[in-house]
Order: sequence, then C-alpha cells, then structure tokens
Amino acid sequence: MRLLRQVRPYRPQFILAMVTSALASLLDGVTVVVLIPLLRVLFGTTGQFGASGSEALTRFTNWLLGPLIQGVPTNVAVARLLGVLVAGLILRNVLAYATTQLQVAVQEGLVRDLRAALFENLLKLDLGYFQRTRQGQILASITTEVDGVKEVVTAALMRLFQSLVKIATILVLMSQISGRLMILTLTTAPILVLGLRFVLVRLRRHARARTQDRGIITSMLAEQVGAVKLIRAYGEEQRQIARLTDQLTRYRTKVLRTSRYASLTGPMSEIFGGLLVILIIVAATTPALIGGVPLAPEAAIAFLVASLQLTSPIKAISQYPALMAVAMASADRVYSVLDEPASDVDGPDDVPLSFTRDIVFDRISFRYGTDASVLTDVSFRLPKGEVLAIVGPSGAGKTTLVDLLPRFNEPTSGEIFIDGVPLSTIQRSSLRAGLGVVSQDTVLLNDTVHGNIAFGSPGATRAQVEAAARAANAADFVAGLPQGYETVLGERGTRLSGGQRQRISIARALLRDPPILILDEATSALDTESERLVQEAIERLMQDRTVLVIAHRLATVRHADQILVLSDGRVVEQGAHAALIARDGLYRRLHDLQFRDPEPVA
Ligand SMILES: Nc1ncnc2c1ncn2[C@@H]1O[C@H](COP(=O)(O)OP(=O)(O)OP(=O)(O)O)[C@@H](O)[C@H]1O
Ligand SMILES: [Mg+2]
Repeated sequence: MRLLRQVRPYRPQFILAMVTSALASLLDGVTVVVLIPLLRVLFGTTGQFGASGSEALTRFTNWLLGPLIQGVPTNVAVARLLGVLVAGLILRNVLAYATTQLQVAVQEGLVRDLRAALFENLLKLDLGYFQRTRQGQILASITTEVDGVKEVVTAALMRLFQSLVKIATILVLMSQISGRLMILTLTTAPILVLGLRFVLVRLRRHARARTQDRGIITSMLAEQVGAVKLIRAYGEEQRQIARLTDQLTRYRTKVLRTSRYASLTGPMSEIFGGLLVILIIVAATTPALIGGVPLAPEAAIAFLVASLQLTSPIKAISQYPALMAVAMASADRVYSVLDEPASDVDGPDDVPLSFTRDIVFDRISFRYGTDASVLTDVSFRLPKGEVLAIVGPSGAGKTTLVDLLPRFNEPTSGEIFIDGVPLSTIQRSSLRAGLGVVSQDTVLLNDTVHGNIAFGSPGATRAQVEAAARAANAADFVAGLPQGYETVLGERGTRLSGGQRQRISIARALLRDPPILILDEATSALDTESERLVQEAIERLMQDRTVLVIAHRLATVRHADQILVLSDGRVVEQGAHAALIARDGLYRRLHDLQFRDPEPVA
C-alpha cells in the first residue's frame, strides 16, 4: 500500500502503461483471429468451421475482415490478410515498446524518489545509527534494495495485469474455437504451474543467499581498495587475496546452484509446449475427445497458436509470488531505514540562535548509548569573545564534550545554555550557522579546492574564497596546484598533505565567519614550518570569536582565557595558564610532557 502511494505521482504513466499493455495483449488475440480466414482462404476451404467452431467467432471474423476478403480474388484476399497480420504485428510491438518505456519511467521515478527520501532521512538520523549500522548495509539499502523494490511495480503490478489480460483474451478465443478442446488443454496447465513452482521456490532461496554473498564481496572490496597502502605496508597482499578468493569461490558456488534451477525453467516450458502441441493435434483430430466432429484445420492451427501464447503468461503468474516476496523483502529493508526515527529535526517551538552574552555548560553528563559515562558533571561558563581551551589525556572526553554544542549528541543529563536559552530549544540550522567547526580529522570531499573551501557557504565568490585561503596560509600551495582553485582534491582530499588539508579546513571555517568557533586541533605532528603555518592560520581564525579549542599546541593554550582540564570525563582543574602551572597538578604534568620544555612558573 505504501509503495502504491509512492507510485501516485506517476499515475498517468502507470495507467497509460496498463492500457497499452492490455491493448497489446488484445492484439495478440486478434492476430490469431486473422489466422483463421487466412488459412481458410489458403487451404481453399470455404465452408464453416468444424462442428465445434462457433457462430460468434465466425461472425466476428466476418465483421472484422469480411469487407477485406469478400468478393475479391484469392490472391488479393491473401495479400490483404497478410497486410493486416503485418500491421497487427507492428502495432502490437509498438504498443509493447511504449509499455516498456512507460514502465521504466514509472519504475525509475519510484527509484529516484525512494533514494532521495532515503538520503534525506539518513541526514536526519541520530549519529549513533551510523555506528550501529554497517556502511555497506546503508549503501545497499539505497542502491540494491531500492532496485529490488521497483520490481514490485513491473513484476507484480504490470506484468500480472498484462498476463491476466492475455490469458483472458486467449481463453475467450479458445472457447470460441472449441470449448472442449480448451478444457482439455487447460487440464494440463496445473502440471506446468506445479513444475515451475517447484523450481522457482528453490531458485528464490538460492538467489537470496547469492545476493547476500555479493553484498559481502562489495563491502570487502570497498574496504580493501581504501586500505591499499596499509595492505602494501604490512605485506598483507597474499592473505587478503586469499580471503577475497575464498569469498569469490563461495559466490561462484551459489551462482552455480542458482543457475541449476534458473536454467531449468526454459527447457521445462519448451517440453511442456511441445507436449501441448502434440496433445492438441491428437485431440483436434480425434472426434471422440472433442465431441464428435474433428476441428477444421484452420481452427486447429489457430487454436495451437493461441495455446502456445499461454505459456508465457502462465510462467509470469507462477513467478509472481516469488518475485513479490523478494521485492517485498527489499521494500521492508528500505522502509526500515525510512522509518528510522529522524532525531535531527527541530521542535515546533524552537527559537533562532541569539548570542550576545555567554555559553554555559551546566552539570553536563553524557554516555554513548548504554556505555559507561564519558562525561560527568562538566560545568563552565564561556563569555562572548573569550577563548576556552580544553586539555586532557587522550580519551578524556574532549571531542565528546565539544560535539554537544552543535547538538551532534544530546547530553544525558544537565543543560547547555546560550544567552540563558536552553540549547535544546534552539533551531539546529540557526545554531549551526553560528558555529564554525574545525574537527580533529579534517574531512575533505572529492571536489575542487574552491568547492571544499566554499562548502557550507554556497554564495561565496572566488575573491572571498581566495581571501579565506590567504588567511588560512593555504593560498601559496593552492597556487602551486595544476589547476589552482579548480584542482580536484581526490577522494578524501588525498592529493594534499596533512598540514595542507588542515589549512583548507581552516579556510572553510574562516569563509563562514561564524561568531562561535569549535576547534579540535589535530594531534598529528607537523614539521616546524607546517606547524607555524597552521598555527598562524588558527590564530587568525580565533580572532574576534568565541572559541572552544581542544588544544595541543602551547601557543593556543597559553593565550586562552580559561583552561579546562578534563580527565576521565571530569573537570579536574580549571583556570588560566599561569594559575594552573602554579598548581602543579595534571595540567602542569601534561604541559611538561607535551612541550618537553617546562615553562617557568610565571
Ligand atoms: N561514538 C562513540 N561511541 C562510543 N564511545 C565513544 C564514541 N566516541 C568516543 N567514545 C569513547 O568516549 C571516550 C572519549 O572519547 P573522545 O573522543 O571524546 O576523547 P578525546 O578526549 O577527544 O581523545 P583524543 O585526545 O584522543 O581525541 C573514549 O573512551 C572513547 O572510547
Ligand atoms: Mg578527540
């Protein structure tokens, strides 16, 4: 039902496709009808059908074709009938072609809509979702599973309808030629249906396993391709090749097993069709079987042609439950992602950000899911325009703490206020527009330098981008790139060095010019020159802003208005640099460790 609602925007195409496919099926029937007078003229039998031929059909053929063939020489009549056959053939295929085009239009519209909706919802999901869920699985839901869902539209709805119309047309026709022969023919249909079902059920089971295996191969490959350097450095080639080959072999076995059944349906229908032909020929010429009089040859041939047209719709209908089940399973998975509750959305009463006074963290505690507490009772007040440095050992919870401000995560207890307004009532978009984030791991996209710097500032001009790059000490190396600002940085910005990547991300934050800045300094050691360039850029970025900085660099820490020392998620020391050095506690120890060169107690 939900899927059908999704098809709604494409209702005109959908209905038109139904109409064209029904017309194509009807034309198939008409072709058979034309055969009768054609054969009759050719064989020179001018009489009626055999006893079981029907008045209605004769009247119909006469009405349809009489004007073409009555009172003209045989060769002219034959030519005309052949003309009608060819015209019917062409028209039927034009209609079939149109049906396919319309089907594809509806299908791909559905696919596009579902993918866009999935992506939109993904962007609103809780960040925890992305840790709980394998990336391959998320990608599969957007790609393969959506493709599976579209099968519902073709396989189920359209083809089912098409097959039903076709079967109905042919049955009407057969019954008009010879009701008895039709009943006799139909008694064999269950054999085909049962045989096909036996094969299809098994086919489906194996096909599902095969799809799973292919998913595993895809995600393995994605991982390996991303880790080429690591594999090479650690000499893991042979082991990784063996691992993949194992998986490929397993996949091959599954494909073979599937194909054992998949390639069975063809021969089965062939044999069935052949037996049907024999049965019909025998029956048509055995009066005892069909009620006294043998069928006229043209009627028998027309009947044969009609009956052979039955196999493909019967096959389609037998496949229907299996195809539907697979498509429905895909639909389930797609909807399970679509139904994942979006958490990153504003409430109706949320207000825009206004920031003139201060940011207050009031007894904030946080845990990831049900893990142990990562932050406990963290409180501080950061007046506008000041710099708060956060220091502490690795794993102390520094990144976790600053991630609460853009509402990437919500505190488990406690409240954050900006100008006295609880953060949980501030509109996310307006909050984030006021925040610049330079994170610990610089994230660059496979886009140009310009695109990467202007990410989040879509209206930025080239002059503004260049100014930001200059302020971030990035202008020089960008000028050295082959296409300057139009150089594409490659997946994850792999073209650039670590320090260069950092400066691009600083330029990105500078361009946005946010009043509040969150800076998670990367710990990776840069050489002195690069370090100086990055440090200069950071200092420019921090000017005239309210800054939360996770600081590893001496210069940044020393000039901070306050320093928060975190250990195991708790604030253990708090104050200005000089005072903390004087206290001779954790800060002093960290400081001496990190900078090797103990500061004189000021
Ligand atoms: N997404 C997550 N899910 C569960 N636990 C997490 C998650 N992110 C971090 N943690 C845990 O929370 C703790 C604090 O991590 P956090 O990243 O805040 O440390 P940090 O102080 O920034 O360390 P570093 O200086 O190394 O960057 C760590 O014990 C970490 O294992
Ligand atoms: Mg961190």
